[in-house]
Amino acid sequence: KKISILGVPMDLGQMRRGVDMGPSAIRYAGVVERLESLGYDIDDQGNIEIDQAERVHNPDTNLRNLKAVADGNERLAAKIHDIIDGDSFPLIFGGDHSIALGTLAGVSKHYNNLGVIWYDAHGDLNTADTSPSGNIHGMPLAASLGIGHEALTNIGGYTPKVKPENIVIIGARSLDEGERVLIKEKGIKVYTMHEIDRLGMTKVMEEAMAYLKDRQVDGVHLSLDLDGLDPNDAPGVGTPVIGGISYRESHLAMEMLAEAGVITSAEFVEVNPILDEKNKTASVAVALMGSLFGEKLL
Ligand code: ARG
Ligand code: MN
Ligand code: MN
Ligand code: MN
Repeated sequence: KKISILGVPMDLGQMRRGVDMGPSAIRYAGVVERLESLGYDIDDQGNIEIDQAERVHNPDTNLRNLKAVADGNERLAAKIHDIIDGDSFPLIFGGDHSIALGTLAGVSKHYNNLGVIWYDAHGDLNTADTSPSGNIHGMPLAASLGIGHEALTNIGGYTPKVKPENIVIIGARSLDEGERVLIKEKGIKVYTMHEIDRLGMTKVMEEAMAYLKDRQVDGVHLSLDLDGLDPNDAPGVGTPVIGGISYRESHLAMEMLAEAGVITSAEFVEVNPILDEKNKTASVAVALMGSLFGEKLL
């Protein structure tokens, strides 16, 4: 049982500083010790090199910092190859959610029919045309479907990374107009907060896993944006949205994924220690990783 950790100090996919310190905050919260205590062999490979925000001067187009974001993600994708080829589980720490471009580029190459669970308040399904912000962290899922600027869709030299019917979004409560259109057009499965409240997290996770199983996926990547959780439980994020998934529901979700043994790669993103309360959000991320990797009280 081997897990390889990669940190991605990426803060160029959005405008708030501090999320580049996410990997440090997660390590400081004790992730290596936590996973080792579960019997895993942990290989922390350190951080991917990402351009320093102060040194990146791109015109503020509707694809902010495009080249630096794309370059960092190419490096990330290449590293992930080596991890999977070495039969290790890739566990990636963000950094803003634009790093999913590189993670999925690296992971998806090793599967014929990858499934993705996107745990997030947002859809991250924008393109330069639909984005209200120009922030690439709001675009990685669209780009992974092959929709958007070529520099983003073609990370790793191929496109698409995932089929729309192999995606399940959980926790959505803030979608832009263009994202709504895309969800309907592509028939993407979404559990909004409405369904989570109505069905309960147990049913939502049972359904989500059955849905992916029906699609005969041969691997499932978990992309967990900490802003999927309620800001009371995870305050250290750049784009908090009230009314989110609770700490307890999130643990339940991770425990159910662990029991089913379906997750083959994972990333925990958008932890911003500058906006946090005494590293609470990184600690929550580490606790959720504990559950994802099989931690049990008794
Ligand atoms: N939809 C908004 C945008 O495109 C917010 C995206 C937030 N994404 C995230 N990964 N936190 O700018
Ligand atoms: Mn490979
Ligand atoms: Mn989000
Ligand atoms: Mn996100």
